[in-house]
Amino acid sequence: MAPVNTERVRKVCVVGASGKLGRYMVRQALERGYEVVGVCRERSVPKLAEFEGRMTVVPGPTNDPEVIRRAVAGCDGVLTVLVPWGVRQYASGTAQSVLDHARPGARLVFSCGWHITRDGKDSYSRMFLALVWLAARLAKLVRAVEIDDQVEACRRVFASDTRWTVVRGSNLEEGESQGLPVWSRHVGDPVLASNLTRRVDFALFMVEALTDDTLVREAPAIVGRLTPSALAHSGGLHDHA
Ligand SMILES: NC(=O)c1ccc[n+]([C@@H]2O[C@H](COP(=O)([O-])OP(=O)(O)OC[C@H]3O[C@@H](n4cnc5c(N)ncnc54)[C@H](OP(=O)(O)O)[C@@H]3O)[C@@H](O)[C@H]2O)c1
Repeated sequence: MAPVNTERVRKVCVVGASGKLGRYMVRQALERGYEVVGVCRERSVPKLAEFEGRMTVVPGPTNDPEVIRRAVAGCDGVLTVLVPWGVRQYASGTAQSVLDHARPGARLVFSCGWHITRDGKDSYSRMFLALVWLAARLAKLVRAVEIDDQVEACRRVFASDTRWTVVRGSNLEEGESQGLPVWSRHVGDPVLASNLTRRVDFALFMVEALTDDTLVREAPAIVGRLTPSALAHSGGLHDHA
């Protein structure tokens, strides 16, 4: 399978384009001159009105293989927002559709949170684990969120032989860009201790990953580059700025 020439990414698909992270990624991909295709639920298409005429929208559920097959056709990269919403394997269905239908060699970049672990070597605070446990239990009770399914989605990505990157976001906040976040392979690294990233910079990291081959088959955990822990500990650690 011929890898994408990352110098020459021309067309990208944003799966989950209508959300906050998705819209930041659409904007940044357009600014880079990429041709952009976005997928979102039919009722969310109006949320992409600001991009009318500048992108193609394929409306439909992101876990529908046929919708994804049409959307990713001819794309050099696919940016996928993996969310745990719903109770019908939305996240794993979305990831599987992208893995099955993206063109061989395409760069596939997925978003998730720190709670996803690739190799079990992440070290979480008791508070973090308690919050994830509580969120998972509450989610099951209200039957609106399936955190386990986001875990399954990432397991499938990690097991695939595609050119994937899984970007693990810290807590998020809105605000002006501070530049490309710094990252570490493992939660628990002191550089990540501040646990905060601007959402716009999460998007920046995802879009930048399309052309960064050093991130292929990595699951970087990110943190804002101007946070106290990044300033104190980055010292060149995975600092791609
Ligand atoms: N929020 C955080 O603090 C946080 C922390 C760490 C990592 N992350 C990660 O960051 C990424 C973006 O998360 P975000 O919280 O910032 O959300 P977001 O960008 O606002 O995106 C939410 C997405 O979920 C979709 N969605 C909402 N309800 C849905 C439903 N019932 N069924 C199907 N899809 C539904 C939205 O689609 P519509 O536009 O159609 O509603 C949208 O695409 C995710 O990968 C998340 O795991 C978030």
